[in-house]
Amino acid sequence: MARGAGRAEVAHAVATVAGDGRPGDRRAAESAVNYVAYEMSQHLCEYRARMSCCDPRGCDQFFSPRFARRVARRYRKRGLDRTAARIVAFLEDAGVTGASVLEIGGGVGEIGLELLGRGATRVVTLELTRAYDAEAARLAREAGVADRVERRIHDIAADPDAVGPADVVVLHRVVCCYPDYERLLGAAAGHARRAVVFSHPRRNLASRTFIALENLGFRVRGSDFRTFVHPPAAMAEVCRRSGFAGGLVHPGRVWQVQGLTR
Ligand SMILES: C[S@@+](CC[C@H](N)C(=O)[O-])C[C@H]1O[C@@H](n2cnc3c(N)ncnc32)[C@H](O)[C@@H]1O
Repeated sequence: MARGAGRAEVAHAVATVAGDGRPGDRRAAESAVNYVAYEMSQHLCEYRARMSCCDPRGCDQFFSPRFARRVARRYRKRGLDRTAARIVAFLEDAGVTGASVLEIGGGVGEIGLELLGRGATRVVTLELTRAYDAEAARLAREAGVADRVERRIHDIAADPDAVGPADVVVLHRVVCCYPDYERLLGAAAGHARRAVVFSHPRRNLASRTFIALENLGFRVRGSDFRTFVHPPAAMAEVCRRSGFAGGLVHPGRVWQVQGLTR
């Protein structure tokens, strides 16, 4: 029975085998049972993804493989963007030699690659979409560190226990794609042994208006993707609750960086 077969055919096959039990009917019934099991597993996966750890929140619509190719091309040509370079500089100052890195929302993984180049031992990158995987793998191979990079599709805010701790935790332009900054940064700080660093848009009237209009556009286009300008002081405070000290290390006009250490 084909995967797309209807319920009537499933019911008929099961009824037939229940009646006579001939070999042909048994094959049809087996096929029907496989079909039902397959469909149920698909629904269960979708349900789990939506309700628990991997709801992509529209990121899989917004961040495409094409977008990833563009980011990777720019990185090959020009290196890190300025905000990412500030994040790496902060971590270098804090001490990255021998450190394990957890990058949440790591995109194509360029920050992780730079940290490995500066003495970090291992990087785990969490993402909500597979759109970056091919480019991330290519960049890691080019840098000769593919065996030290692990990528996972996982929302640490929804399921923190499924991720191990790391010496440093990085979130570059991620908290602005996530509605619940307390859960996300709480989970990030809770997994960081030595440092947590994140970037976010500056919060002012202009950025709030821009984000409101952008979200209106997403809504009109039927996209689930939304962006947020969370309050900077409150975000740092979430990390301080896990025993970190520090705050704004780069008060940029568009992107700001907060870095905290124990
Ligand atoms: C604007 S992109 C930034 C990607 C990369 N850090 C960069 O700056 O190029 C934000 C990324 O964060 C990911 N993301 C958002 N919330 C996340 C979460 N809770 N866990 C893992 N990834 C998340 C999204 O899938 C998206 O790829």
